[in-house]
Amino acid sequence: MKRLQGKRALITGAARGIGAAFAQAYVREGATVMIGDIDSARAEETAGQIGPACMAVTLDVTKQESIDAAMAETVQRLGGLDILINNAAVFDMAPLTEITRASYDRLFAINVAGTLFMMQAAAKQMIAQGKGGRIINMASQAGRRGEALVAVYCATKAAIISLTQSAALNLIPHRINVNAIAPGVVDGEHWDGVDALFAKYEQRPLGEKKRLVGEGVPFGRMGTAEDLTGMAVFLASDEAQYIVAQTYNVDGGQWMS
Ligand SMILES: NC(=O)c1ccc[n+]([C@@H]2O[C@H](COP(=O)([O-])OP(=O)(O)OC[C@H]3O[C@@H](n4cnc5c(N)ncnc54)[C@H](O)[C@@H]3O)[C@@H](O)[C@H]2O)c1
Repeated sequence: MKRLQGKRALITGAARGIGAAFAQAYVREGATVMIGDIDSARAEETAGQIGPACMAVTLDVTKQESIDAAMAETVQRLGGLDILINNAAVFDMAPLTEITRASYDRLFAINVAGTLFMMQAAAKQMIAQGKGGRIINMASQAGRRGEALVAVYCATKAAIISLTQSAALNLIPHRINVNAIAPGVVDGEHWDGVDALFAKYEQRPLGEKKRLVGEGVPFGRMGTAEDLTGMAVFLASDEAQYIVAQTYNVDGGQWMS
């Protein structure tokens, strides 16, 4: 039997990368999915590739009007909301002495405030429906400990782990389970950008950082977006109903906690 049959999911930042793989896996498991992304053209293209059970809506998680409008459109087109995945995030890095206010504000607005206020909008809808729900936040191994050149992104992902815990405790009486996934290093367009920044700050040839981090994973390679789909389906499934406030590492053995 399909594990998410009849469930209605909104996945932020799912125009590409990990979120797109989640959308595909959820549809495979019987869910209908709304991709909410600031990149509308790519979101429509991805939804079209996945099929009729996948739709797209324009969403900027930094703007409350956009959150409200995207939530209303999602509920109207899907007939309700059972699952939210807060997947949209951006990355930046710099030595501490070179971090700009603009970069700090942007990362915290998208990664942290975006996640918080999307959780709030989804929780209001799920509470009104009265049948519980699931919220999955995308943390990172970067949220488990600092990194010399990655202070702000690491802090945003530590904040996701903390927000997941508080939101989970507040929402579980409504049978809304909030949990998080902490990936390690996942190959894709996101890491192409990370690799380019390491090339700049550590004077490396392009591609070298990716090769090194892949070699450093106990499993023996970088992750793929598909490596994360099992956990995303499980946390949204009926089998996970007693799991509350947790952050699960899915990282090939990089981090143990
Ligand atoms: N790739 C990795 O190695 C890795 C590791 C750990 C955690 N993660 C986390 O997993 C999640 C997905 O990562 P990915 O590699 O697929 O990233 P990605 O950069 O490929 O995709 C991010 C998506 O978010 C969208 N987005 C950006 N700003 C937005 C906004 N304001 N509103 C709505 N959408 C917006 C982008 O358009 C893009 O489609 C992120 O939360 C990331 O931090 C990724």
